[in-house]
Parts: sequence; C-alpha cells; structure tokens
Amino acid sequence: MSIFSQGSIRKIVGGENSIEQIVDLAKSFNAKNIVVVTDAGVFATGLVNKPVQLLQDAGFNVSVIKDVPPEPSVEQVNHIYDQAKNVKCDLLVGIGGGSSMDTTKLVSLMLTNSVSLKDMVKGTKPTLKGVPTLMVPTTAGTGSEATPNAIVLVPEENLKVGIVTDLMIADCVILDPVMTKGLPPQITANTGIDALCHLMECYISKKHNPLSDTFALSGIKMVAESIRECYNNGSNLEARSKMLTAACFGGICIASSSTVAIHALSYPLGGRYHLPHGLANAILMPLVMDANKYSCLDRYYEMAKAMGIDVAGKSKETVAELFVKELYALNADLNIKCNLKDKGVTLDVIDELVEGASKVTRLLGNNPKDFSKAEMAEIYRKLIEANQ
Ligand SMILES: NC(=O)c1ccc[n+]([C@@H]2O[C@H](COP(=O)([O-])OP(=O)(O)OC[C@H]3O[C@@H](n4cnc5c(N)ncnc54)[C@H](O)[C@@H]3O)[C@@H](O)[C@H]2O)c1
Ligand SMILES: [Fe+2]
Repeated sequence: MSIFSQGSIRKIVGGENSIEQIVDLAKSFNAKNIVVVTDAGVFATGLVNKPVQLLQDAGFNVSVIKDVPPEPSVEQVNHIYDQAKNVKCDLLVGIGGGSSMDTTKLVSLMLTNSVSLKDMVKGTKPTLKGVPTLMVPTTAGTGSEATPNAIVLVPEENLKVGIVTDLMIADCVILDPVMTKGLPPQITANTGIDALCHLMECYISKKHNPLSDTFALSGIKMVAESIRECYNNGSNLEARSKMLTAACFGGICIASSSTVAIHALSYPLGGRYHLPHGLANAILMPLVMDANKYSCLDRYYEMAKAMGIDVAGKSKETVAELFVKELYALNADLNIKCNLKDKGVTLDVIDELVEGASKVTRLLGNNPKDFSKAEMAEIYRKLIEANQ
C-alpha cells in the first residue's frame, strides 16, 4: 500500500441547533474581529442572522460579506478578498455551500501569504497557514468544510481548477441540520449526488487507503438511507443530519484519497457551460461508474452492500451491474436527467471537452483504469445523444 496522509479539522460540532455553539468556538480562537463570508442566496434565507446575532451579543465585532457568487472565478474571489482585507479580522466564518466555503478558505490564505490567487492557480504553493476559519455548511454536498481543496473557475481556459494545500483545512466545523432544512429539493439532489460521488470516487481511487475506505463506506450507507427522504421531505432533520454527516465524510475522504474520472470529466462542463458542480457530476456518474466497474469489482461489491443492495448468491459482475442500475434509479428518483443535450452541449464541442478533461491529471491519474481520449469522447457523446 502506498503512503497516505490526512490533514484534519481541529474540532467538529454537530447536531440540531449546534449553530448555538458558535460563540464558544469563536472564543476558543481568542478572536475579537470576525468576518462572515456567505452568498446572496444564503443571506436571503436569514440563516446567517442567528449566528451573527449570537456573536455580536457575546461582544465580537462582526462584519458580513454577502456577495460570494455561485462557483466563483479567480477574479470574483479576488473581489471578495479585496473586501476582506479592508476589515481587521482574526477569524473567518464561512456560511454556505462549497462556493462560500471555498472562497473563505482562499481568502484566509491570501490574507497571510503574499501569493496571488492567479499564481496559486498556476501552482505556486503558499507557505503560511491562513487566518483561522470556522465553516458552517448549508448544503450537504461538497464536504469543503473538511477538504484541503478549493475550486475556482478559470474563464480563459473554460475550466475549473482545484487548489490543494493542507494549510487550507478548516479549524472548526459546525454540522447543524437546521442550516440545510430549507435547501430547495433540486439543489438538495444535485449537491447530495456530489457527496455520493466524492465517497464512491475516493473508494475506487488509486489513492484509497484504510482511513478513506472506512469513511467512504459509512458515508455511502448514510446517503442511501437519507438522500431520497431529504429530496422528498426536506424538513426531516434526521435525514438532513445523515446527509450532512455523509457529505463531511466525503470531504474527509478527499483529504487523503482523491476523486477520479467523474470529477475530471465534470470540470470542463462547469468551466464552459456553468453547469452546477453537483449536477454535472450527477449526469456523468452512472456512465463513468459503469465504465470503471471491471477494474475494481471487489470494491463495487463492497459499495453495493453499503448501498443496501441484496448481494446474496450473486456474482461480483452481477452485483456491479446492479450497483450501476441503482445509480440510474437514484438519479431518476431525484429528477436528474442523464442528458447533456438539454444543457446546450453539442456534438461539435466533444474534442474541446476531452482536451479539458485530459488536463485534469490530478484526478484522472487516480482513476482505477486509464481512460483513453476516445473513451472520454464516447461518454460525452452518449450523454449528448441520450433521450432521457
Ligand atoms: N472544496 C472542495 O473540496 C469542493 C468539492 C466539491 C465542489 N466544490 C465546489 O463547490 C462549489 C459548489 O458548492 P455547492 O454545490 O455547495 O453549491 P453553492 O455553494 O454554489 O450553492 C448553490 C446554491 O444553493 C444556495 N443555498 C445554499 N445553501 C442554502 C440553504 N440552506 N437554503 C437555501 N439555499 C441555499 C446558494 O445560495 C446557491 O444559490 C463549486 O464551485 C464546486 O466546484 C468544492
Ligand atoms: Fe465535488
């Protein structure tokens, strides 16, 4: 087995209304000046009011930056940084989905390192830990609260790029299901499938290891038990809590393993067509998992068991097929169509998409099988021509 390494969060607090612990957590940083980073959609829900009020009542100076755009570009993160650097700040609180949390992580690094985001995208590594961060996820998807990654859009390349450093791992995390209760059904579905992809991809990745394996199988089980209920009955806090935990587990897996071909093929779709990250992954998920199945049948067998599929008396090949079938059924139940034509993707851009995906060697290189350009083109083609 190859060497693995896992950076981790100092403290995770979870459970219904655990957002109320934010004051004690903030005190543990000896912070005085706090900047909350969120997006307009989350701000409009009123979700940040309670934590901000609690912090202000406890005597902290709190400023709120509330205009993180969805799936931000380098320039847009720079704009948020420009706002943050003008405020005295010794703790950053990211409240939102992956867009807000990734931005918070990047701004935290930019505040302490003299490296521009443009240079980080090109590979320059920051050397100093950022301003301390506390993350409050409001989607159960990216697991960004637990990963050393932040993803930014690079518009000139029509591609999304991941910046990875343990220096960016959050210090504290609050997993409060109440913060995800009002998440609309389709965002619940898209982001929930993103979490499932993290868990499955890290489990079949060449970088899988005993630690990520444990979190992956446990997370897959929790997703299977709760994702449909979250979609159909969003106010079920037990189901919301399971999905939030599973998504965080997905992030923990990414911290020592890696996502693979689903995410690699998804980046050009996000980059050029601005498909929401979770939706792009969801559309690719069944076909890519189908293409990978013979390279790790044992692992598909374990994932199928975690998913609750009856494996008794069945061959590993049959179980792998049932597993892929269940992924199609899951998408159908969540009203996600495995079709790229409806998203405006046309056959003439396939070569460009393949070129983009081929550049994501950080992920593609960990896929259990080598995908040729022709195989990637075939996956995009099938999804453009699909009638579902
Ligand atoms: N850092 C990582 O490890 C990692 C992993 C996967 C994806 N990502 C990145 O994360 C970003 C996507 O994040 P996301 O999928 O969480 O979506 P998001 O943060 O873009 O949020 C999606 C939408 O949901 C709304 N929303 C969020 N929480 C809500 C709530 N509780 N109630 C109502 N509306 C709410 C937001 O306002 C937004 O409009 C992408 O940029 C993606 O590349 C990062
Ligand atoms: Fe993802």
